[in-house]
Amino acid sequence: MICCLNPDCPNPQNPHGSNFCLSCGTGLVSLLRNRYRIIEPLGRGGFARTYLAEDIDKLNEKCVVKQLVRGQFYGGGGSEAQKKATELFEREAKRLQELGKHDQIPTLFAYFKENDYLYLVQELIEGQNLLQELRQQGVLNETKIRQLLNDLLPVLEIIHQQQVIHRDIKAENIIRRQHDGRLVLIDFGVSKQTKETANTTPGTIIGSMGYAPIEQLQFGEAYPASDFYSLGITCFYLLTNASPSQLWIKQGFGWTVNWRNHISQPISQKLGLILDKLLQENHEQRYQSAKAVLLDLNAQPGSHYNVPHTVISPQQLLPQPPPIQQQPTQYISRFSLKELLPGVVITGSGSTFLAIALLSFLGTTLISSGLWLIILGFLIFTQSRSLFEKTYLFLLAVITNIFIVFIFQRWQITNPLQSGINGLIVVVLLVILGGLLAFILMVISQILDKIMARYF
Ligand SMILES: Nc1ncnc2c1ncn2[C@@H]1O[C@H](COP(=O)(O)OP(=O)(O)O)[C@@H](O)[C@H]1O
Ligand SMILES: [Mg+2]
Repeated sequence: MICCLNPDCPNPQNPHGSNFCLSCGTGLVSLLRNRYRIIEPLGRGGFARTYLAEDIDKLNEKCVVKQLVRGQFYGGGGSEAQKKATELFEREAKRLQELGKHDQIPTLFAYFKENDYLYLVQELIEGQNLLQELRQQGVLNETKIRQLLNDLLPVLEIIHQQQVIHRDIKAENIIRRQHDGRLVLIDFGVSKQTKETANTTPGTIIGSMGYAPIEQLQFGEAYPASDFYSLGITCFYLLTNASPSQLWIKQGFGWTVNWRNHISQPISQKLGLILDKLLQENHEQRYQSAKAVLLDLNAQPGSHYNVPHTVISPQQLLPQPPPIQQQPTQYISRFSLKELLPGVVITGSGSTFLAIALLSFLGTTLISSGLWLIILGFLIFTQSRSLFEKTYLFLLAVITNIFIVFIFQRWQITNPLQSGINGLIVVVLLVILGGLLAFILMVISQILDKIMARYF
């Protein structure tokens, strides 16, 4: 058999000795790079085709050849989608080169361009992926899910230590190696170095629907906790055979609150609580490290209440499914509020002091308002924050200072900076009030965000 390398060929298998594909007419290549003989297709993903192959330079040892499809390489040109696909493909090769020394990640053998396509050759992991296994053998029981977590979490720990987030953990991307039953993580096509920018071109979906957490899908952000969400979804799928993508399409991210409704086999309360924490919508409420999950998973009975990394509330210990509230979509939490809090208070107080100074010396004139806006804008927008955070701080300062100017006029305060000790007390009180007002506004914006997420 000789396999056609036209990625769109509907029937790529051809009898030995053929020069052109019987199905699509494309010229057949018997050896890629004079070395790799393509045997048959293994998978057909969004931007790549995966083939089983053999390496004639290594006594016909089997290997896997992945071909970039959508980002066909036209000397670096091409559309945005092509560039993005090429970038992701190169990234996959780089990741395999860096991480492939690990026994549970395939080794990279070669990466090259031939006939306008990019190819990546990697170690073949003999065995089935977990989706194939699920279809053939049915759902996994609790013991198998625990084995899966114990086997895969150390791999995630290592990749996270190297600042890599996989971003596409799902049953198809985990292979159970035939000869020793160990699990191997594949498909680093959309993995991301935490230092890299999110770089999500509009229309580019990073991760798989139903498996990707909200921060990844909505904001292009990824943390180790993002992989834990996908891992939790994978465990859910393997326990229930209920399709996460269908649940996601019908119910959005909220479905995970009631994941127990789909379970048809008993599972321990301990595993249930671990899945609860993996499936939290808010990434800050999930586990933050693989070690923390492993500690909970392998805690001796009774001892996990002493483990400080996971706080289990008495409510969660009730025998009923824990009444976990739906975590509303957080439109505003593109930043960590804890990190932003000092910035909010300083902006409130600082902008108030600036307003007092300008009002004291220039009065409530258009010039003082203009100057206030320019100076504040400069101070906020030159900070190294995201544009979203800067705009948020700027708006908080504007609203806070509308209140401050109102107080100024209501109590007819004039020139406090030139009125001795009494004026100074007024200034200090107003500056504190400014910080407080900014804080209150931040709390109100959070409440509004939660209400919006619940009802819209
Ligand atoms: N190294 C490998 N060893 C064995 N099978 C593999 C290997 N890499 C991929 N496969 C098989 O090919 C399928 C598609 O490969 P994958 O790398 O996940 O590409 P895609 O980006 O198309 O999802 C996988 O689900 C798996 O069954
Ligand atoms: Mg895949």
